[in-house]
Amino acid sequence: MENQEVTLTIDGVKVKAQKGTPILEVARQIGIEIPALCYLRLLSPYGSCRVCSVEVTTPTGRKRIVTSCNYPAEEGLIVETKSERVVKIRRKLLELLLARCPKVVRIKNLASLYGVNETNLWVENDSEDCILCGLCVRVCSELIGVSAINFANRGVKRVVTTPYNEFSEDCIGCGACAIVCPTGSKRVRTNNYSTMRPLAGPKKDEQIGVYSDITSAKSSIEGQDGGVVTALLVSGLEKGFFNKAIVVKRKNSYKAEAFIAEKVEDLINARGTKYLRVKIVPKLKELIKNGERKIAVVGTPCQARAARKIQQTLQQEYPDLDITIIGLFCYEAFDYDKLKEETKRLLNVDLDSSEKTQIRKGKFIVTVNGQEYSCKVKDLNSAIEKGCVYCNDFPALFADISVGAVGSDEGFSTVIIRTEKGKKLFENTDLTFGQVKIEEVSKLTALKKNRAKENFAPFIEEIHVTRSTGKWVVGDGA
Ligand code: SF4
Ligand code: SF4
Ligand code: FES
Repeated sequence: MENQEVTLTIDGVKVKAQKGTPILEVARQIGIEIPALCYLRLLSPYGSCRVCSVEVTTPTGRKRIVTSCNYPAEEGLIVETKSERVVKIRRKLLELLLARCPKVVRIKNLASLYGVNETNLWVENDSEDCILCGLCVRVCSELIGVSAINFANRGVKRVVTTPYNEFSEDCIGCGACAIVCPTGSKRVRTNNYSTMRPLAGPKKDEQIGVYSDITSAKSSIEGQDGGVVTALLVSGLEKGFFNKAIVVKRKNSYKAEAFIAEKVEDLINARGTKYLRVKIVPKLKELIKNGERKIAVVGTPCQARAARKIQQTLQQEYPDLDITIIGLFCYEAFDYDKLKEETKRLLNVDLDSSEKTQIRKGKFIVTVNGQEYSCKVKDLNSAIEKGCVYCNDFPALFADISVGAVGSDEGFSTVIIRTEKGKKLFENTDLTFGQVKIEEVSKLTALKKNRAKENFAPFIEEIHVTRSTGKWVVGDGA
């Protein structure tokens, strides 16, 4: 946007604005509300719904209808937001939207504000609830940074979906798409993980989630934080609770990939926490496609969510599908390249040659040649994966059993047993117990939730402003 002040006239009121500001924004500044369905100030304008149409007259006398959400303020522009022509056009557009989504309350309300209470137009599918405004697509790519969803097909077949309409490999289940959707569409949530059927369990805590028991434990296996995850996997594999386990394994460097473990030896080789976001969906799909039905998945809260969604969705098709989800506490994941760069800069270590990485008491600890190097986790902020700051799940709410160092003494892990399956696996694993400090888990969960809430706050506020339909002035022609 150019840093130059211009004067324009909106509904007869002279107003000064920065050149290039969308005229919808300038109108808002002087209390003139224009309806907008596909626009949120914090995302790039897309201009698809056209209900923000206004009439402009340029200094050269050219008069035309434009979409105010992406039409820039310029010197001498005259804007009419509720002329007879504008209202007529909005009515037509709203009738089209009503024909597309006849049951969506928000569309019905807006249309009715313009005197459109029914449509004589062809209704293709009366349960359609997506107006193809693209807000979900833009928030996922511009804010969350994962681009899990996009438009597919053309013309009347155009939809918002995941690549190939399959379970997303990238969705982190943050729910931003659902938050910004002006119609509350179900469509966008089919193959991503923003809305899940909640787990059932004997107890429910606001922070910890559903659980039957919480304890602190360690195993006899040498491994990170008492080797509890490896011990659970080994006993599950040996006792036939599952035949294969999807775990995250380091490649030659610190970089990691999802890996299918079939033997105890594979599990031992994959020990150790990697603070990276790794896609597990392709491996899970591969196993199911190859006929495997008893599978364990170890992953962060977003990976646990993905596995649970796949399990819940495919249960009808494969009634014998049996997925055990071991969730890992996670405050944030790091981008490999940036983490490597930052640990080099701050600690002068090569992450690729580290034996172990740990996060404890706010410190990121890297062990190289038996020696520990550490820095504050918050000093690594620039290496955090995009999107993690919008995720509000620390203790892996959708896992059968969640494990993490927080809340336990060094050498132990906190274990949250959530489901019957998690309980059976836990009871069949040889562990010794320590003292658990649940309040530490609750504290970090609350911090993560608050961070997500704070980051979403400007959006929520913006949505509130944009969608307070009561303020939309219809105009004389209505
Ligand atoms: S839940 Fe988040 S990551 Fe997943 S599709 Fe929606 S916005 Fe994208
Ligand atoms: S699902 Fe909602 S946000 Fe996404 S394009 Fe459709 S109406 Fe817009
Ligand atoms: S085209 Fe401007 S709000 Fe949709």
